[in-house]
Amino acid sequence: MTRTVYVNGDYLPEDAASVSVFDRGFLFADGVYEVTSVLDGKLVDFDGHAARLDRSLSELSMHAPVTRDELLEIHRELVRRNGLTDGLIYLQITRGAPADRDFAFPDPDEVAPTVVLFTQSKPGLAEAPQAKTGIRVISIDDLRWGRRDIKTVQLLYPSMGKMMAKAEGCDDAWMVEDGTVTEGTSNNAYIVTGGRIVTRPRSVDILHGITRAAVLRYAEEAQMEVEERPFTIAEAQAADEAFVTSASTFVMPVVEIDGTPVGTGAPGPVAARLREIYLEESRKAAI
Ligand code: PDD
Repeated sequence: MTRTVYVNGDYLPEDAASVSVFDRGFLFADGVYEVTSVLDGKLVDFDGHAARLDRSLSELSMHAPVTRDELLEIHRELVRRNGLTDGLIYLQITRGAPADRDFAFPDPDEVAPTVVLFTQSKPGLAEAPQAKTGIRVISIDDLRWGRRDIKTVQLLYPSMGKMMAKAEGCDDAWMVEDGTVTEGTSNNAYIVTGGRIVTRPRSVDILHGITRAAVLRYAEEAQMEVEERPFTIAEAQAADEAFVTSASTFVMPVVEIDGTPVGTGAPGPVAARLREIYLEESRKAAI
């Protein structure tokens, strides 16, 4: 079945949709994106993703090409047209396609941004088997740029990190800078140690995960202690539990880091409980 995708105001069959070769997203990775999960045909934390998108755009001096209400309607229309039950909606906005390649930004009044959205069907997204077994990660140097709080489409290094993990028979990589873990290739990283959930504080070093914000809120509501501070790989390997969060994996246990089992080497109770609460609350609040 071919998908219906959205490109600059039109809903088109995926094989009829196209973007210019001069698009700055293609030539300069000059664009931002969001990934919103869909459970039971409803959008999880749409407002959080829309707010972060606004911030990413404004940090890059880009104008929002659609209002938040229009964006919500496009998301819902794509869910409807594609009969999406469980999965993801990918959204990308680039600085558009000027007449020629040029490092300088084009005048935003002359060149309209490119807006693309598509769905990714993932039946049983919330019941991923890996949530029961946990994932294994390796550590790699964090060689990304210095504004990781902006959700840009410059994903080559995270993609290379994923391949480095695969080459070692693992699932993902945790990136390390100046001795401490920043985040996973496409998720935020946590450990559970001394009865506390520890995760790196928000800064330009990491993406401010929408799932992270929700999970930390639910953890505090459930009287779990949260400490926002950086941690090392050695501390993570010696921790009781480790896990990651993202819109596509929710709360996912990490059971091994650089070949060392974390805790018992099986998913722990804190990650399992947080996953349960997150999914329950997200389903309730989805729109
Ligand atoms: N990635 N950190 C990085 C580097 C990410 O790319 C992501 C999300 C996160 C988690 O953010 P959120 O909870 O808002 O999804 C953290 C998405 C899922 C992706 O690139 O597919």
